[in-house]
Amino acid sequence: MTTPRIAPSLLAADFANLQRDCELVNESDADWFHLDVMDGVFVPNISFGMPVIKAIAQHATKTLDVHLMIVDPDRYIQHFADLGAHNLTVHYEACTHLHRTLQAIKAAGMKAGVALNPHTPIAQLSDIIKDVDLVCLMSVNPGFGGQSFIENTYEKVKALKTLINENKASTLIEIDGGVTSKNAEALVAAGADVLVAGSFVFKSKDPKHTIAQLKELVQS
Ligand code: DX5
Ligand code: ZN
Repeated sequence: MTTPRIAPSLLAADFANLQRDCELVNESDADWFHLDVMDGVFVPNISFGMPVIKAIAQHATKTLDVHLMIVDPDRYIQHFADLGAHNLTVHYEACTHLHRTLQAIKAAGMKAGVALNPHTPIAQLSDIIKDVDLVCLMSVNPGFGGQSFIENTYEKVKALKTLINENKASTLIEIDGGVTSKNAEALVAAGADVLVAGSFVFKSKDPKHTIAQLKELVQS
């Protein structure tokens, strides 16, 4: 089994101690920082935006993986590039001209990601998969941390892996929502490359140890 990238979601961090939690991730075995931007329109919650990402970027020493849960993301592509985002993921359900949006993200120097809500079939990506650097499969309904993992995700990972292989694409598969030590191994076995984990990491007693455990678990 290949070693997955681990991407702690700062949505579950202590916002009054963000620098401390950024340093914790820097010092851990984690690979990416997962940053959830919510606008209160696409999802029924508002998280954080540009000023907070700017502050995080000053301390984070790893890839900034920005997940936009917002309508009309095209308006902000350049802003996120300027803030130092490495990956910019938009929702399939929020983009009328997805191909154009992905090209704009790449033109701004970032990796282009597409997130799929739990109800959105993998087949919707069949004509665009070669243009996508990263597919973020939502394993909960986006908007909140701490929700339960949707079991149908395993089937979606397998279907997506098949689509990627058939197209000889190099797209990464990221799983977002309800990831724990209970499902991590099976997700990687099904084809996942990146595991996002918010509550499981930051609500644990020793987040660094939890990150290491998650990584070890799927290495064995
Ligand atoms: C949910 C976000 C997730 C969230 C995951 O809308 O996209 O990234 O932070 O949190 P957990 O791991 O707690 O489900
Ligand atoms: Zn996310």
